[in-house]
Amino acid sequence: MSRTSGAHTRNTQLCVLLQSDVCLLHVSFPCFYSHQTSEFTLLVSNLNHAVQSGSLVVPQVVLSAFQQHKEVKLKSSPADLVTETDQRVEKILISAIRNRYPQHRFIGEESVAAGERLELTDSPTWIIDPIDGTVNFVHRFPFVAISIAFTFNKQIQFGIVYSCVEDKLFYAQRGGGAFLNGEPLYVSGQQDISRCVVVTEIGAERDDVALSTTTSNICRLLKLPVHGVRALGTAAVDMCQVATGGADAYYHIGMHCWDIAASAIIVQEAGGVVMDTDGSEFDMMSRRVIAASSATVADRIAQVIQAFPCCRDDEDNCRCGATGVN
Ligand code: IPD
Repeated sequence: MSRTSGAHTRNTQLCVLLQSDVCLLHVSFPCFYSHQTSEFTLLVSNLNHAVQSGSLVVPQVVLSAFQQHKEVKLKSSPADLVTETDQRVEKILISAIRNRYPQHRFIGEESVAAGERLELTDSPTWIIDPIDGTVNFVHRFPFVAISIAFTFNKQIQFGIVYSCVEDKLFYAQRGGGAFLNGEPLYVSGQQDISRCVVVTEIGAERDDVALSTTTSNICRLLKLPVHGVRALGTAAVDMCQVATGGADAYYHIGMHCWDIAASAIIVQEAGGVVMDTDGSEFDMMSRRVIAASSATVADRIAQVIQAFPCCRDDEDNCRCGATGVN
């Protein structure tokens, strides 16, 4: 397909999660090449049909393994886990998409853990977390999600977060709004930090600096005060709570791009603000994020919390979960 082809010359349909004719998401592709992102079409009815009919393939793999005994391996820390299902789901997704779009690139959590270089280029790129919330998955704590984002020119074009046990499909396309199981999503719009529910994660880093920074950040927020601090154990689902208005803000230091790329566009398209914890522009490789219902709340959280040193996702030799500056 030529990059200069017109928006209507080809209308290739992509099934993100596919088995015969069952798809999670149909998108028309020419916009990536014609740069007419307004013509990027998410066929919501197909997607909802797939959800309602329970015919999503990859979530079935996750759900059928959910109640079973799992062989667990450690990655970067005693709290950074991987199972055979994480690896299997990532392989299914990448091979299905690559089969259809051999030129596309991938950033997958388990591929990077296995040594693949993490590099975001201008090329069409899929950023995949096959199971966000692997610790939950291992313990059968019922918040686990498949997170898939698609970028072009390093910009997130669409994102899908499927919370498997809850059967909740969050998705958004750039300029097209955000949805949960077909219903539009809107952030709360809350401006007053003292009325906020804030979501965060303890994360997988367990060194002294990371732990003391993480816990003192929670204390500082509680003392503002905020109404409450919550953690579901999956950054992707945590962040989607902001998009629903059920939470007013989310922040995290030390997560990876695959944890938050899809949910970042979901929050933005629901009317929220996504930025770095230092108040600068959101950079999905920085391993720092604030997502909030308003700029006022995001700025207030940025003033209150501190970040611990953490190498960037796209830094060479910054292996999955590695902490500290190289
Ligand atoms: C983890 C989850 C968790 C967060 C960790 C992530 P994974 O992702 O998002 O909520 O605290 O920092 O690594 O490993 O389950 O995909």
